[in-house]
Amino acid sequence: MVRFCLIILAVTLCRASAQKLFPDNFKFGAATAAYQIEGAWDEDGKGINIWDTFTHTAGKIRDNSTGDVASDSYHKYKEDVAILKDLGVKLYRFSISWSRIMPDGRPYSINQAGIDYYVNLVKELIENDIEPFVTLYHWDLPQYLEDLGGWLNPRIADYFGDYARVVYTALGPYVNYWVTINEPSTTCVLGYGQGILAPGKTLIGDGVYLCARNSLKAHAKAYRIYETEFKPLYNGKVTINIPSANYYPKTNSTLDAEAVERVFEFVVGLFANAVFKRNWPQVVIDRVANRSRLEGYSFSRLPEFSEAEIDYISGTYDYFSVNLYTSVIVEYKDETAISTPSYLLDMGIPVSINSSWIKSTASWLNSDPPGTRNILNLIQKKYNPSEIVISENGWADTGDLDDQKRITYLKEYLTNILSAILEDGVNVTGYTLWSLLDNFEWADGYSQRFGIVNVDFDSPLRNRTYKSSADWYKRIIEARAIVD
Ligand SMILES: *[C@@H]1O[C@H](CO)[C@@H](O)[C@H](O)[C@H]1NC(C)=O
Ligand SMILES: *[C@@H]1O[C@H](CO)[C@@H](O)[C@H](O)[C@H]1NC(C)=O
Ligand SMILES: *[C@@H]1O[C@H](CO)[C@@H](O)[C@H](O)[C@H]1NC(C)=O
Ligand SMILES: *[C@@H]1O[C@H](CO)[C@@H](O)[C@H](O)[C@H]1NC(C)=O
Ligand SMILES: *[C@@H]1O[C@H](CO)[C@@H](O)[C@H](O)[C@H]1NC(C)=O
Ligand SMILES: *[C@@H]1O[C@H](CO)[C@@H](O)[C@H](O)[C@H]1NC(C)=O
Repeated sequence: MVRFCLIILAVTLCRASAQKLFPDNFKFGAATAAYQIEGAWDEDGKGINIWDTFTHTAGKIRDNSTGDVASDSYHKYKEDVAILKDLGVKLYRFSISWSRIMPDGRPYSINQAGIDYYVNLVKELIENDIEPFVTLYHWDLPQYLEDLGGWLNPRIADYFGDYARVVYTALGPYVNYWVTINEPSTTCVLGYGQGILAPGKTLIGDGVYLCARNSLKAHAKAYRIYETEFKPLYNGKVTINIPSANYYPKTNSTLDAEAVERVFEFVVGLFANAVFKRNWPQVVIDRVANRSRLEGYSFSRLPEFSEAEIDYISGTYDYFSVNLYTSVIVEYKDETAISTPSYLLDMGIPVSINSSWIKSTASWLNSDPPGTRNILNLIQKKYNPSEIVISENGWADTGDLDDQKRITYLKEYLTNILSAILEDGVNVTGYTLWSLLDNFEWADGYSQRFGIVNVDFDSPLRNRTYKSSADWYKRIIEARAIVD
């Protein structure tokens, strides 16, 4: 580039190259999820899902709110696509509401209005030169399937496979990037372990592992169905989505290093190892088996996979989809005495954050952007994917329109991501910022705002207004470089 600059003396081009450009194959995008933005919770034949049930139960959501209307994207999707186009976004990650297209989750009843909604959305995106990036499952299980045990029921893999086939059939011709399940670790630990998210079950000793096993089998089923029935036709890419913190050891001691490794395997490896390598991580197998035995169980609370199951799940990915928000600090702790069985005691290491990282009053999640570069390198080293897409990364505040802190945070994040790409050779090909719109933030309701575009939740019209960060993101996308 230096020679090129000298020859033509093109000052602006030289400055751009000095600025470091995002590579040509890197796509800037934005992300949302069905329950958080669509609203229309009981319209046009949609069935009830576990988030409808959860939000309609008193005491579950911090501000007593629901996603009944949310950002009303079900009715305003064309406006949202126009915003994406104006921002210059090339990749839009959204999820399908299972109960909108299969009201009780079963294949005998397909709701055509639901299918039409997603086909129209996808066509609108493509007409505007935006690639659809589809998540099959982002936490909103049809209530009927929850009544059958939800993610604790081994049969969920078969129901999920039938659902995936319906979606692939309808949207297959238009979609290149697929995620089967978003953040199964969050569902299993917070939904079936601690009860903070729907369906609100507190089964932290046993449920987490049953949920993990069934999620992996469901993911693999959906992957294999695509692989055999749809890939020959459309050649899309399918994977599972995994969130990861960046894990710092508290000190440079060997014990803290071991603790980091253990926490990583319990949190990330529990879902990634079987897919990107084989079977559960060994440290998880050993520790859960040991503690189960000492608790008097005749079996491990971590249900084993057969060799055939290991083969079936292993290799079910075409890229790595990771959600990145924060770093945490890990400090070794001596073995906790046997008491009530718990996934957290199986892990046996509490994590903390450095309070100096917290820059937002709305959420502790927003901390330490430099950790991004570490974690991208670790994922590359551990799992060696040919391609990584950062499918979520964002900042929560309480709704400022002039959101300078969000800009600062995202800028630091993208700077570190760019370093991972250019200096470390990590092949990050996409970034879908969380989130396009202010939306319903699960148990935190509307008290946390992640959008770069404000939604007026006090108005039935749910008007959209750009925040400063939307204008900034537009400039970044245009420059393909970190700009102010
Ligand atoms: C939510 O509802 C409960 C009673 O159901 C009430 O005590 C609480 O103050 C409400 N919280 C908010 C933020 O409205
Ligand atoms: C760990 O070691 C590195 C250099 O090897 C040093 O930069 C860092 O400050 C040390 N960290 C701690 C917490 O001691
Ligand atoms: C499991 O227990 C055995 C002995 O009962 C011990 O040698 C081994 O270190 C333990 N493994 C783990 C991972 O805790
Ligand atoms: C927290 O971060 C501050 C500023 O980077 C640093 O000085 C301090 O040592 C950190 N504390 C811990 C416990 O890591
Ligand atoms: C990065 O991933 C893309 C998409 O799979 C691929 O075309 C490209 O060759 C990869 N680049 C490297 C350096 O591996
Ligand atoms: C809200 O949006 C509607 C169109 O959806 C528009 O007609 C109206 O002028 C907007 N109101 C405000 C206050 O911006």
